[in-house]
Amino acid sequence: MTVTLSPRALMSLLVNGPKAVDVLETALAVGLLDALEPGPVRLDALANRFGVLPLRLYKFLDCVESLGFLMRDEPSDDIGATSYRAVPGLRDAVNAALGPGAIERDRDRYPWRQLQGRLADSLRGDVSIGDDGFAWPPKTAAQTAEFERSMALGLGPVMETVRRHASRLWSDRHRLLDVGGGDGTLAAHILDSAPALRADVYNLPAVAPLVEATRAACGHPDRLGFVGGDFFADPLPRGYDAISFVRVLHDWPNAVARQLLEQAYAALEPGGLLVICEEFRTPDRLAMQFFWSYFLIGVDSSVSRLREVEFYTKLLAEIGFGQVAVLPGGWELVTAYKPPLAGNGPLTTTL
Ligand SMILES: C[S@@+](CC[C@H](N)C(=O)[O-])C[C@H]1O[C@@H](n2cnc3c(N)ncnc32)[C@H](O)[C@@H]1O
Repeated sequence: MTVTLSPRALMSLLVNGPKAVDVLETALAVGLLDALEPGPVRLDALANRFGVLPLRLYKFLDCVESLGFLMRDEPSDDIGATSYRAVPGLRDAVNAALGPGAIERDRDRYPWRQLQGRLADSLRGDVSIGDDGFAWPPKTAAQTAEFERSMALGLGPVMETVRRHASRLWSDRHRLLDVGGGDGTLAAHILDSAPALRADVYNLPAVAPLVEATRAACGHPDRLGFVGGDFFADPLPRGYDAISFVRVLHDWPNAVARQLLEQAYAALEPGGLLVICEEFRTPDRLAMQFFWSYFLIGVDSSVSRLREVEFYTKLLAEIGFGQVAVLPGGWELVTAYKPPLAGNGPLTTTL
């Protein structure tokens, strides 16, 4: 069931957003979502099982249905006979957004309220998020730790996709460089399913202690390393047959994304694998990125470009990569190979 609400109806839901969240938090906490998802389940059975009043539950479930989350069959005037089934994945979705480790809870810690009610001034450039609230890239050790922790929390869709394609990606690879690889959480995860691989995180030197903590806690500390550097100041290190950019290129303008990929082309060994993963633009992902789209209105140093996957497939081909492919998953992976006998310079240079 796909429901597209009119702008007017969507506005009613948005204005009542806190109440909708209250309904869903309650449904999650009391276990209603667990009962509704396998469905269909009758209202009288639900009311009995959860010890609640049927008419009250009927109205409560109307709230859930108005959000597009429930299918309902009401065969008679007897509300007890009304049966319900939740859309597949609802419980996990609510848990991901509102549960104890929810990404939205983490995001809420950022000082977005500095913009609230002042957006018009912010759009004019008169109100910004100061460096003490959020600096991009992070400036202090505390900001670095806080930011990389938030990033690691959001790695779920990437991990799912790299796990799904592990043998195709890494079976013939020896050394991976994860450029802008955060605190090393993803690299450590990749090593779990790639026993012959060594991985180095390339990141700003300030991130070194965080990667060291990840290394010490992971299952293969001997295969996870760190290379400190600034990809704007130095060429990427050589000697790798795989290079990945995960949620790095979307932080920069198009010309910089191209420059970074050209650097990777130059650094990769002939036949080397290039992997790009980020939330390639779709309506769903733009919605899930809403927090950052809003918050970063006040942060000019982060361009925050959610690009369609085709931007990268085209760019990689232009630079000279071959076998460009899009591997499916929670977030797709774009993969490409440097031709085996290619020289060390990219075919096109625009900067
Ligand atoms: C949005 S985060 C993504 C982190 C990680 N790849 C992930 O997806 O969780 C961008 C990363 O790029 C790194 N970064 C930013 N500027 C950099 C630079 N000039 N050189 C190297 N790394 C940089 C940041 O420290 C951060 O780890």
